[in-house]
Amino acid sequence: AGDGEQHIEDFHFSFEGPFGTFDQHQLQRGLQIYTEVCAACHGLRYVPLRDLTALGYSDEQVIAYAADNFEVFDPELDDFRPAIPTDHFPINNGVGAPDLSLMAKARAGFHGPYGLGINQLVKGMGGAEYIASLLHGYTGHEKEEAGAVLYENTAFPGGWISMAPPLSDEQVEFTDGHENTVDAMSQDVAAFLMWAAEPKMMDRKNAGFVGVIFLTVLSVLLYLVNKRLWAPIK
Ligand code: HEM
Repeated sequence: AGDGEQHIEDFHFSFEGPFGTFDQHQLQRGLQIYTEVCAACHGLRYVPLRDLTALGYSDEQVIAYAADNFEVFDPELDDFRPAIPTDHFPINNGVGAPDLSLMAKARAGFHGPYGLGINQLVKGMGGAEYIASLLHGYTGHEKEEAGAVLYENTAFPGGWISMAPPLSDEQVEFTDGHENTVDAMSQDVAAFLMWAAEPKMMDRKNAGFVGVIFLTVLSVLLYLVNKRLWAPIK
């Protein structure tokens, strides 16, 4: 067992920094991992299936993906039917696993020092880093407590989580033969969950950038206007 310190690795995700963007291929791999592994226990209730076009899929591909992978309960039919793009990813309460829609925003990877949160200013909030660190943070130790099996994990607060290690090397095969170690897949699915929690991140950054340029130009103009207005008096 470790020293009990929570360990979050500072991964370099493509979407970090003021000009960072999502890597569509990584998001597609993350979606595949989510679908083949995580969806067995976790839901993604706030994410509309139609939004998957943002990952570079055509409307036809999204229709096929929804129908092939998910069933939703339709109150009008009073029965389950294959999902269509206007549905959301289903809720999954089967084993009490938390919904992952907002997980990348709900968790922070970095804190402190001394509760000041300066690490978050320097490294970012680290929601995706937390998820990736959690997925490959298993030490292999287990224990049983009150009838439940707990797995030691260096990223999980408290060090013991009830989720069994979900990923193993080469568990998911990518069509382009991309690396499928636990380490690589942890980052891919964490990037996908970041997109799920904040699909408009790029728009937000762009708007902020335009705002900064606008204010810079405005400041220069105001400075010059001020100079000219006061020139006869000074
Ligand atoms: C908890 C991610 C697969 C069962 C969690 C948490 C995350 C997560 C981020 C929240 C940890 C926290 O509260 O800070 C994932 C991902 C998966 C995956 C990305 C796929 C790669 C699975 C699978 C199962 C499962 C397949 C069931 C066999 C659970 C349970 C919890 C949990 C029961 C609650 C653990 C606790 O609070 O002790 N998972 N998970 N997960 N997951 Fe998963």
